[in-house]
Amino acid sequence: MNKQSFYITTPIYYVNGAPHLGHAYTSTAADVLARWNRLEGHDVYFLTGTDEHGQKVEAAARLAGIPPQDFTDRVSADFQDMARVMNISNDDFIRTTAPRHKLAAQAIWRKLQENGFIYPGAYEGWYAVRDEAFYDEDETELKPDGSRIAKAGGAAVEWVVEPSYFFKLSAFQDRLLAFYEANPGFIAPQAKRNEVVSFVKSGLRDLSVSRTSFSWGIPVPGDEKHVMYVWLDALVNYLTAVGYPDESAAKFHYWPASLHLVGKEIIRFHAIYWPAFLMAAGLPCPKRVFSHGWWTVEGEKMSKSLGNFIDVRPLVEELGLDQLRYFMLREVPFGNDGDFSRKALVGRINADLANGLGNLAQRTLSFIAKNAGAAVPPKGALHEADLTLLALGAELPEKVRAAINRLAFHEALQEIWRLISAADGYIDAQAPWSLRKTDPVRMNSVLYTLCATLRSIGVVLQPFMPASAAKLLDYLGVGADRSLAILESPLAEATPLPAPSGLFPRIVEEQNADR
Ligand code: MSP
Repeated sequence: MNKQSFYITTPIYYVNGAPHLGHAYTSTAADVLARWNRLEGHDVYFLTGTDEHGQKVEAAARLAGIPPQDFTDRVSADFQDMARVMNISNDDFIRTTAPRHKLAAQAIWRKLQENGFIYPGAYEGWYAVRDEAFYDEDETELKPDGSRIAKAGGAAVEWVVEPSYFFKLSAFQDRLLAFYEANPGFIAPQAKRNEVVSFVKSGLRDLSVSRTSFSWGIPVPGDEKHVMYVWLDALVNYLTAVGYPDESAAKFHYWPASLHLVGKEIIRFHAIYWPAFLMAAGLPCPKRVFSHGWWTVEGEKMSKSLGNFIDVRPLVEELGLDQLRYFMLREVPFGNDGDFSRKALVGRINADLANGLGNLAQRTLSFIAKNAGAAVPPKGALHEADLTLLALGAELPEKVRAAINRLAFHEALQEIWRLISAADGYIDAQAPWSLRKTDPVRMNSVLYTLCATLRSIGVVLQPFMPASAAKLLDYLGVGADRSLAILESPLAEATPLPAPSGLFPRIVEEQNADR
């Protein structure tokens, strides 16, 4: 059988700073999509990694007093550690300083050159080292102290004149517009698409794609005084990982990528430069680029000067990994900006996880352990109320699928939680505890219905909360096959169940804690 392939990527993270909540967010969202697609039985390839070249990294290494390669080794390892802690199920981790990537980046360069899209010239313009980007004069502003900054983001810019190779981006304006037109789903959400389209319509200028003022980069083939522009270098990572330039490599069938997940500030690079580079190289463009929003922390932008970067690792240690994963994807519609606060996180853990799912599972499973022989109870003759709840459970995968395919993670979770509330209402109305003496056969039907409902919930929750969902499915006696397909067969009666324990401890914050 030919499986549908799904190639998903995160941006590769800059190593000039430490991993934080923003990176964990992009990676977790990508992880949910990768895991969901595996659950669907698709052939998934999930890539993340680190972006290790450029002037900023060179400067950060100098500040740390170590050679750039040692510096990037250290920070890249830290990003890999964060991925491990967040339970990110990536199939590959790409580093732009790896030989395979240098090979791919130089191969693309030669291809662009052969195809006539690269020419030598000199660059003059306002350059922001922090953003690794050139700005038009009207995108900058002069401050009262005489310095100049980029309006978007406030990075300091300097006037740079240096020899540079150019990429003929201007030649792609019409082709890009035609591509967006023919592929309406290429850029999402819609608002971002509109922004990109009007930017391209306003005219594209050729892009400087090499630098001579620093050396921490991939040398331009044939002119080694130049290093490749960091964005050209970085974007190519998505091809390197599938074997480029060897188009007969086993993994190359994953190209074009199904989805590049990116933060909103880098949509321009992925939705304009990247397809233009690919068109110029004669390669197919990715199917979709989705731009998500930014987190502020307790109402403030995360920044070096405020020192409020959140390292997720201590948070995971203290409050739990699946709790954090759930919060990030439930709290804010993907695509919007949101605010991260401890209060909101603890609030969701207690309300949705401890009191919601955790309580439903515990009430059901500990009751079965004590009063129903510690096995999946016999179904018996089902009543209308049972069938109604089971029908909701049967519809759940399709509802979750529809939301996930739109990257509406919060809606997928809302759907799951609607079923949890329905099950709560059901257990209260059916009151199995009072049936125990009066009608044990009916009690068993109720408990069976609850187990089947919890199984539907557990299966679709796996991509979001892998460890907790696994625990829930263990408590329900579900075997090794935990794919969506198992929900099509009824839950087997009489399966022995292990002793359950709580899934999500309640978080009790100290009174008046200054947090
Ligand atoms: N190296 C480039 C990407 C190259 S991809 C070919 C880069 N790296 S980054 O480390 O600065 O950012 C990577 C991702 O982290 C982006 O998707 C960005 O949106 C995300 N986040 C960084 N800070 C963030 C928040 N405060 N909130 C949410 N995500 C944010 O850009």
